[in-house]
Amino acid sequence: MSSSINTNFKQYLVSTKPKGAAIPAGLQDLLLAVVNTCSTLSHEVAQGALIGLLGSAGSGNVQGEVQQKLDIIANDQLMDGVKECKSLAGLASEEMELPVAVQGTGDYLLLFDPLDGSSNIDVNVSIGTIFSILKKQDPSAPLQTSDFLLSGRHQVAAGYVVYGPQTTMALTLGDGVVMFTLNKETSEFLLIKDAVTISPSTKEFAINMSNMRHWADPVRRYVEECLAGTTGVRDKDFNMRWIASMVADVHRVLSRGGVFMYPWDKRDPKKAGKLRLMYEANPMSFLVEQAGGASINGTQTIMDLQPTGLHERVSVMLGSKEEIERLKQYHS
Ligand code: AHG
Ligand code: MN
Ligand code: MN
Repeated sequence: MSSSINTNFKQYLVSTKPKGAAIPAGLQDLLLAVVNTCSTLSHEVAQGALIGLLGSAGSGNVQGEVQQKLDIIANDQLMDGVKECKSLAGLASEEMELPVAVQGTGDYLLLFDPLDGSSNIDVNVSIGTIFSILKKQDPSAPLQTSDFLLSGRHQVAAGYVVYGPQTTMALTLGDGVVMFTLNKETSEFLLIKDAVTISPSTKEFAINMSNMRHWADPVRRYVEECLAGTTGVRDKDFNMRWIASMVADVHRVLSRGGVFMYPWDKRDPKKAGKLRLMYEANPMSFLVEQAGGASINGTQTIMDLQPTGLHERVSVMLGSKEEIERLKQYHS
């Protein structure tokens, strides 16, 4: 990668050659459309109550979750932002039951979690947008839900934009991870980090501890050993964080290492987990793997899972490689 710090996103797309090949013009267009929409969203998120953005929308989504106003606004704006994109065949969103075919003649498929961290909107804590791009296997056939059901390995790009103290994007095109921060005066995303790497070892983990009594034994063992610190088998003290916005928690893992877990638990044993494979787990796993980390559901690598439904949920454990290896051993 030859781009230097402060390269803007458009310049980056034109100049970078992931795995030695230029980024196809259609993919560049699509990425720019997504990222420009996120820039607009970032400005709006920063206004919050001043423009009536906070609070519940009073509706529910296909996941059975109460929608916030911003869930719907972000979803509509992303749809509007990409619908003219000629390289796009269709899109799917966490907030919509069915995929939407787009007028374009191209074969890219866009999946997104328009607003991640909904419970944090009204309390002014970091939230974000997560996206994943696939290629339709049969470009000539009419769009069907099954076109989207490809394993994470098929992703050609994935990323997120976190709306925090800074608005920062992480992106992978399958050749490492880069980060950009939004200059809010010019609305340009500028490169701040190339070759993002996650250290293989860590002393920090993230999990919602209030679910502890419901966890499966391997997760409980792992966390109990972390909590025992220098008095236990790990022989080192761990720190814990839980932001409850996956974007912000994963951003921390990409920035300084760590483990993030939202495991399957016994609250609702039939439910595979809380997080969504297509909109959250796959794109984040792609980023984490590309940064040298690992991502599993306990026993299997998330990126290798064959999806069976657009809104499928999955158990997620990702981050520093040595810790994910340990979690995998405890599950075997
Ligand atoms: P979303 O806002 O898109 O529904 O996702 C929220 C997810 C994820 O971002 C976060 O890690 C998790 O839910 C938090 O869940 P808890 O409130 O159960 O901790
Ligand atoms: Mn989410
Ligand atoms: Mn969401």
